[in-house]
Amino acid sequence: MTAGVGQLDWQLRPATVHRVAAIESLEQQLFPEDAWSLEMILAEITHPTRAYWVAEADGQVIGYAGVMVVADTADVQNIAVAPHWEGRGLGKALLTQLHTEALSRGAREILLEVRTDNQRAQGLYRRFGYTEITVRRGYYPGGADALIMRAELAPREEPSTTDLTSHMNGTVNQDNAE
Ligand SMILES: CC(C)(COP(=O)(O)OP(=O)(O)OC[C@H]1O[C@@H](n2cnc3c(N)ncnc32)[C@H](O)[C@@H]1OP(=O)(O)O)[C@@H](O)C(=O)NCCC(=O)NCCS
Repeated sequence: MTAGVGQLDWQLRPATVHRVAAIESLEQQLFPEDAWSLEMILAEITHPTRAYWVAEADGQVIGYAGVMVVADTADVQNIAVAPHWEGRGLGKALLTQLHTEALSRGAREILLEVRTDNQRAQGLYRRFGYTEITVRRGYYPGGADALIMRAELAPREEPSTTDLTSHMNGTVNQDNAE
């Protein structure tokens, strides 16, 4: 994704190992209490159940986000935008990308945790349909509480009337065969 006409120029790209150091630098800046190490970031972006993107401007990483998808459930692993780029739609673009990827990998719901005092991130999530499930007390290093939020990506498929009928027919046929 590229920013539209009239906006400052930035692009979303899949995260590669070449971007690990830049991601770690943003981590240190934005999450000083519990930043992921280089090794953790490398393990994340190369893990088959994960998908990460970076937002770049002038070759610099100005944001990143990642999602884990296992079976039909996705988890937002992280989302972050450099402070001087906040409020310009990067957060929305990154989260949209995570949702698109999660859906394409078969997820039907998506979960995340966010500090209870992080109103800005919660505002973004609520815009995307996330609602609060529960609070996990003392979840973060330093003792901050986490809000667990969930959004539905795709409605769960109920069996159609045709499916039910063919299933019933199958049962009848089997019974008849005995
Ligand atoms: C949360 C974060 C990713 C949002 O990124 P962003 O690029 O600023 O977000 P956007 O510009 O796309 O704005 C998206 C929504 O965020 C919320 N938002 C943006 N600026 C806000 C502000 N100053 N105050 C409150 N909410 C705000 C709004 O809901 C906004 O939607 P709207 O523009 O339709 O009103 C970014 O602030 C960030 O990286 N914060 C530090 C790291 C962090 O807390 N990550 C989340 C960990 S769970």
